[in-house]
Amino acid sequence: MSMDPSAFDFTGRHLFVAGGSSGINLGVAQAFARAGANVSLISRSADKVATAAAGLEALGTQALGIAADVRQPEALERALSEAHVRFGPIDVLLSGAAGNFLASALDMSPNAFKTVVEIDLLGSFNVARLAHAHLRRPGASIIQISAGQAFTPTPFQAHVCAAKAGVDMLTRVLALEWGAEGIRINSIVPGPIADTEGLKRLAPTARTLDDMAQRVPLKRLGRIEDIARMAMVLASDWGSYITGAVIPVDGGLALTGPRDLTAAAEATRKTRA
Ligand code: COA
Ligand code: NAP
Repeated sequence: MSMDPSAFDFTGRHLFVAGGSSGINLGVAQAFARAGANVSLISRSADKVATAAAGLEALGTQALGIAADVRQPEALERALSEAHVRFGPIDVLLSGAAGNFLASALDMSPNAFKTVVEIDLLGSFNVARLAHAHLRRPGASIIQISAGQAFTPTPFQAHVCAAKAGVDMLTRVLALEWGAEGIRINSIVPGPIADTEGLKRLAPTARTLDDMAQRVPLKRLGRIEDIARMAMVLASDWGSYITGAVIPVDGGLALTGPRDLTAAAEATRKTRA
C-alpha cells in the first residue's frame, strides 16, 4: 500500500464555507487556503465576509466572500451559484453557521429557541440541500460542525442541544441518501476551542474558562488547528471510506458528564442585564 504524501495538497480544489467569516470555520478555511484551495465563504455580515476573503487572498489563494444568511434559501442559492461559476463544483463543503447564548429554558422565549434551531439545524439542512446540485459528484466531502451539546444534555443550552443533535442525525441520514453518488458527509464535534466567540459565550470569565479547560481529560483547550487537521483528513483521500461519522475532536470531553454552566450563565445574565 502506498501512502500519498501530497494528500493534503488541495491546489485548485473548491472549499465552500457556510458561516466562514470568523472563528473555527475561518481558521479551517485558512488551513485549506494554505494548502492551495480556492475558498468561497458566506456569512450574514458583508463587511466580515469581505475582510475574511481578503485575508484568505493574502495567503496566496483565490477567495470569494458573499453576504448570505443560511435561513434565507434564495440568498444561499445565489451565493452557491456565484461560487460555482467562479471556482467550479464544490469539492469540500464546510457547514458551520451557528448562534449561541446561555439561557435556561424558562428564560428562553419561543423565538429565542427557534432562532438557534433555525440557524444551526434548518440552516445546515438548507446549506446541504441547496449545495447538492453544486457538489462534485463523485468525490465531494461535506463536513458539518456540530458540538458536544448534541450528545451531552447541557443546562442553559436547550436550543443548541436540540439543534446540534438534529445536525448529527442529518449527517447520518444524508450519508445514506447520498452515498451512492459518491458524496461523503461527516460531523466534527469540536471541544472548547480557545479564542473563539463560541467559547467566550460558554466561559465568559477567567474562572469559568479555567474550569472548562480542567474538565477536558487532556487538560487543555482545543486549538483551531486541531479542527482543521481533522477537516483535512475527512476532505482528503485519507478519509475516503468515512461517511456518516460523528467525530469528537475534543480532548476527551465527550467522555465526561453534563457540564455545570450555572456560573457562566450567571455571569452572562449580569452582562446582559
Ligand atoms: N438570553 C435569552 N434570549 C436571548 C439572548 C440571551 N442571551 N440573546 C438573544 N435572545 C433572544 C432574543 O431576545 C430574541 O427573542 P425575542 O424576539 O423573543 O426577544 C431571539 O433570541 C432572537 O434574537 P435576535 O438578536 O433577534 O437574533 P439574531 O438572529 O439577530 O441573532 C443570535 C442570533 C441571538 C444567536 C446572536 O447571538 C448571533 O448572531 N450569534 C452569532 C455568533 C455566535 O453566537 N457565535 C457562537 C457560535 S457557537
Ligand atoms: P463564530 O466565530 O461566531 O462563528 C460563527 C460563524 O457563523 C460566523 O462567521 C458568523 O458570521 C456565521 N453566522 C452566524 N449566523 C449565521 C447565519 N444565520 N447565516 C450565515 N452565517 C451565520 O463562532 P465559533 O465559536 O468559531 O463557532 C463555529 C462553529 O463551531 C459553530 O458551528 C459552533 O457551534 C461550533 N463549535 C464551537 C465551539 C467553540 O469552542 N468555539 C465548540 C463546539 C462547536 P456572521 O455574524 O457574519 O453571520
